[in-house]
Formats: sequence, C-alpha cells, structure tokens
Amino acid sequence: MKTTLSSASPAQLDTECLAVLVLDRGTKDKPEVTVESNDEAIKRAAAEVIASGEATGKNCEVTLIHHPTGLKARRLLLLGGGKAQSFSGFELRRVAGTAVRALKGRGLRSFAFLLPQASLSPEQAIKAVVEGAFVGNFDADTYKSDRKDQKIDELTVVASGDAAKLQAALDEAQVIGESQNFTRDLVNEPSNRMTPTMLADHAKKMAQEVGLKCEVYGADKIKELKMGAFWSVAQGSDEPPALIVLKYEPAGAPEKPVLGLVGKGITFDTGGISIKPADGMEKMKYDMAGGAAMLGAMRAIAILKPKIKVTAIVCATENMPSGKAQKPGDVQIAMSGKSIEIINTDAEGRLVLADGLFYARQLGCTHLVDAATLTGAVVVALGYVNAGIFANDEKMYERFSKAEDQAGEKFWRMPLDDEYKEVIKSGIADIVNSGGRWGGAITAAMFLKEFAEDTPWLHLDIAGTAWTEEAKPWIAKGPSGIGVRSLVEFVKDFKG
Ligand code: BES
Ligand code: MN
Ligand code: ZN
Repeated sequence: MKTTLSSASPAQLDTECLAVLVLDRGTKDKPEVTVESNDEAIKRAAAEVIASGEATGKNCEVTLIHHPTGLKARRLLLLGGGKAQSFSGFELRRVAGTAVRALKGRGLRSFAFLLPQASLSPEQAIKAVVEGAFVGNFDADTYKSDRKDQKIDELTVVASGDAAKLQAALDEAQVIGESQNFTRDLVNEPSNRMTPTMLADHAKKMAQEVGLKCEVYGADKIKELKMGAFWSVAQGSDEPPALIVLKYEPAGAPEKPVLGLVGKGITFDTGGISIKPADGMEKMKYDMAGGAAMLGAMRAIAILKPKIKVTAIVCATENMPSGKAQKPGDVQIAMSGKSIEIINTDAEGRLVLADGLFYARQLGCTHLVDAATLTGAVVVALGYVNAGIFANDEKMYERFSKAEDQAGEKFWRMPLDDEYKEVIKSGIADIVNSGGRWGGAITAAMFLKEFAEDTPWLHLDIAGTAWTEEAKPWIAKGPSGIGVRSLVEFVKDFKG
C-alpha cells in the first residue's frame, strides 16, 4: 500500500472516498455526536445522518454517504471512534483498520483519511492511522482459488502541520506496517510451506534486502555449540533445524548496550512423544510466531536505523514424535551446562529458548527480549486480549510498557516470584521442563529466567494473541503480527 500526505483542503480533495472520524463528545445520558473536522462543508454533509441517528459514533461503526454535497470526494465515510474522552491511538488504529476493511470489501482501491485533531499529536495520529490501515489491509487468503485480491493500493492522509515531521511519521509507520505484515505472511504459512529451512531462507532474503548480516546454522553447529536443549527438540524431526542469527550493527552505535531478540521458531508443534490431541493441532503451525515477530522487528529496525546494536536469534525446528525423538524422563544438558529433566516433550518452546537466550548472552547481548507462543496457560490467564509479559528488570519493563502504549498493543505483566521455582525442581537434574498445570505461564517463564540469569530480560508469551480466532471489523482472522510494533518502538528509544 502506497501512502501519501496531503495538505489540501479536505472539501477540495479529489478522492474516491474521504474518511472522517465521528466521536461522542456528550455525557453518559446525553450523547453528542460530532464530526472531527473544522471544515464546514464536511460538517454539513454529515449533519443529516447524524441528526437522523444513523451515525452514532459507536466504536468501529461505518456510515457511507455517496456524492456528499459540497465535497469533491465521491464518498464520505463516517467512522465511529466511541467516546471522545477515552479516544486514543489504540482506538484510532482500529478505526483506520475498519475503514480499510469496509472500503476494500466494497471494491475501492484508494481513499483519503482526514487526520483527527482529538487528543493526539499529529505525528502520533499519523502513525496510528497508517499502522492501523496496514493491519486492516492484510487477509490470510493466499491459498484460496477464488481469492478476490482485494487490497487498498493507496492511502492519502490529509493533515496540516510541520510537513517534514508529518512525512517522517508517515514513512516510519509505513515501514512498521509492512514489517508487521511481513511477519503475518510468515506465520500464515502452513508447516509444509514453512519448514525451519524455509523460514531461514526468508530471513536470509529479507536480511539481504534491508542490509542485515545473517547467518544460518544447522544441526552440526547446534551440536558443536552444545545446545543440548535445542537439539533435544530438533532430534525428533526429519526436517533439519535452523539457528538463525541476524545482526544489526550501525556505524556510530555505542559498544553497549547490545539488545538480543530471541524468538521461538517451532514451525510445527505436535507435542512430540507427549503428543497433542488431534483436535486443534492444525493451529500449531503458528508456533513460530515469536520468531517471525523478531524477524519483522529486525526488518523495521534495519530500515529505520536507530543507533543501537541489535542481534536476533531464532531457534527454528519442528517438534515431532519419531524413533529419534526425546522421551519423557530423558535428561538433557543445555548450552549453559544446566541439566534438564524432560517431563513433557510438549514443553519444547522453553527448551529451544533456553539455548537461544544463553547463546545471545555469549554473543555479547547485554539486554534480552524473547517472544514465544509458549503456553496454553497464558491463554487461560489472559484470554485473546492481552499478551503476557514477564520481567526480571524494572527499567526494562517500564520501557517496554511505554513502547507498547505508543504501539497500541496490549501486554499484561505477570509475576516471577522465587517461590514459583519450587515446582520446577527436579529429583535427578537441576530443573524440570514442566511445572505442571497451575500457573503454567509463570513456571514456564521461571524456567527461562534460569537461562537469562542476571542479564536484564523480558519474556513475551504471545500464545493467545498471535492468532486472531475471529475476524473483527479492523482485522482479518489469522495471524496478528503481535509484538512487532512494540518491539520496534522499544528498540527505537533504547538506551541501555
Ligand atoms: N506451543 C504450545 C503452546 C500454545 C498453546 C501455543 C496454544 C499456542 C496456542 C507449547 O509448546 C505447549 O505445548 N505448551 C504446553 C506446556 C505444558 C506441556 C507444560 C501447554 O501449554 O500445554
Ligand atoms: Mn508444545
Ligand atoms: Zn510449542
């Protein structure tokens, strides 16, 4: 999708459709529906549908007016944004996504969005509109023979202000939006079309396009590095594993900090010998969403060029049952030297991440973030709305919290008290790989903490949020690309 900026008078804009925000500025008992524009012609064109009660300003409501009087635009789209009081970038992203989905479904290929002035700086508003539009423009329809190939090709944002600043915000949002959809494309592929080797090939191609260093290592190197935890999962599959390492080292960046982004890249999770039930197993193709989020974030970082070193590591493998697969009761030695008793071979994400996190520290990373579709337990705890975040460092957490707010994504902090460590103690090894059912998201994070040790670290459990189960007005059913935007915002301002 091409994005352009226009400072034209909105009434004079020659476009297929002009989209404007409608908010409720009234009280609880007495709604007062307003069009978010000072333009008299727009106000007049919208007055009738508002007076009639057809446009109520309700969140994600769309009202389309054809041939609006007094406007050059062929259509005027009124977009409900809810209560003005609680309207933020978060809502604006959804409104923009809703506009894209409503219009492309009606066969339109381009439209203009009038930037609202409400409660946001113009730069923040532009980011929300453009990023939200990219979210809405994605459909997981690659394999449909009757795919309509409907996409918005061009979005014009109508805004006034400091043109250079506005353009910079627009360009940044475009990069982030494309990178999020790059991640969603990877996650959407089924496991026969996204093996660890293929994921690595996508990483290499992307790295070459944006100028990142990329190394891909196979089974030999994984064994040579003594990544016993990663290999214990990989050994059961006929598909070769891939250890993907991307490096962003801009000229002029300080020696430290070095940020390490570690992603779970299980291209299919059968559960291994502790095999999963057939019902719903097909979803486990998205068990590489954490790794894909790191690749998408690296793509954006390489283009946006913040002055900080970043290394990404994706541990990619299948988790399969076979004659070579590890079995419950096996003991594995992780790269760090810690011994792990395997209780459940389905708790494989923490195994590959254990070595990924340790390797990142060996490569000189001073700060770590991992992302993983790690536990069903995080879905029990937080549902499909919030992703889980865990931290062993308050400063890192505070920074991420600001970043996710800027990015319009939702993470909820979960605890990591030492008391939870009890349940991951082993009778015969240093640690078990499954602490059982209760507090499963937390005990999985406690396991990872053993490998981050004293390095400041954040863990993002995106099992419930990486896949949108039901289509919404602003987003299609399928991969969500959660994490990419927050990670980019986080890295952009990271100072160690
Ligand atoms: N990939 C799954 C977690 C998952 C569940 C992702 C639902 C997306 C949606 C993970 O590898 C897993 O199987 N976790 C187990 C851990 C248990 C065996 C300790 C789980 O959550 O049941
Ligand atoms: Mn599993
Ligand atoms: Zn898994």
